[in-house]
Amino acid sequence: MNQNEAPESDGFPKVRLRRLRRTAAIRDMLQETRLSVKDLVCPVFIQEGIDEPKEIELMPGIFRVPLKNLARDIQEMYDLGLRTFLIFGIPKIKNDKATSAYSKDGIVQQSVKSLKQNFGEKIVTITDVCLCQYTSHGHCGIIKNNVADNDTSLKVLDKVATSHAEAGADFVAPSAMMDGQVKSIRNALDNANFTNVGIIGYSAKLSSNLYTPFRDASHSTPEFGDRKTYQMPFHNTNEALQEIMMDVKEGADIVMIKPALPYLDLIYKTRQSTLLPVCAYSVSGEYSIVKAAALEGWVNEDEVVMEFMTSIKRAGADIIVSYYAKRVGELLNRI
Ligand code: PBG
Ligand code: ZN
Repeated sequence: MNQNEAPESDGFPKVRLRRLRRTAAIRDMLQETRLSVKDLVCPVFIQEGIDEPKEIELMPGIFRVPLKNLARDIQEMYDLGLRTFLIFGIPKIKNDKATSAYSKDGIVQQSVKSLKQNFGEKIVTITDVCLCQYTSHGHCGIIKNNVADNDTSLKVLDKVATSHAEAGADFVAPSAMMDGQVKSIRNALDNANFTNVGIIGYSAKLSSNLYTPFRDASHSTPEFGDRKTYQMPFHNTNEALQEIMMDVKEGADIVMIKPALPYLDLIYKTRQSTLLPVCAYSVSGEYSIVKAAALEGWVNEDEVVMEFMTSIKRAGADIIVSYYAKRVGELLNRI
């Protein structure tokens, strides 16, 4: 029997919860979920052809940075204890074949190389593997007859992932949502002898309304149509779990749920149904909603951010991608 339920003489349990929460030190001792800076992944946007950082209009406080600023920015975050970074590239050249996505001196490839030179094995680099920043039409795959052609896109994604591995990426994170992308990339990496490069599957990527600021940030808004044909309807739990199980079978090392906050149920269910690490991506819209309210003075930004991050971890996420990673790092260092 639990202490809190020790019966009184009248047979009713004695409620002790209030007494247990009496002091901050006691509350701290009993805290069940502890967020660590090591749980966090910070996304970074590297843009080709700019000289100065450019603030993203829909994400105040977040910048697209030139390659020359990258090492310094990462060092600042390293000093706060952050170790893992998710790299997004914004190339100068876009075309319908997405060629700059897999070029040897593409922006992501150069960024990873520079990070490896500066930090070696002290940090973890994850690269986003997708085509939408690199295609002239802004879709995540190669378009044929007005739709993303799955198998042609897979071949290009294989090349992108291999080029990232060659540059020194520790993990690749395919986000194009083509069927079979994890398996295809796993084979491509293995064939090129990159057996030690891991794959983070964007396993359940919901067709969400919370990606708008990201598309502005990364210049990847589709010119026509939408992504509903290759992203998942947010109404379906079983389908999301099926996608996750498929990625596990295909060889994902880590599975991801995206967005995070409106999908805590999926994070929880995923945690219950696989032994792999579970990652949650708190997306651009989640950031911008909090930031906008904070700029209006309507909420306490730091407190809200800590509550949201803790909730995502409590639901079962082992790893959390967030645009607030740096701020959370600062806050955690203060305690
Ligand atoms: C596309 C991609 C998106 C995000 C990451 N990769 C946007 C989309 O699918 O439209 C969204 C991330 C965010 O909103 O923070 N490959
Ligand atoms: Zn994409």
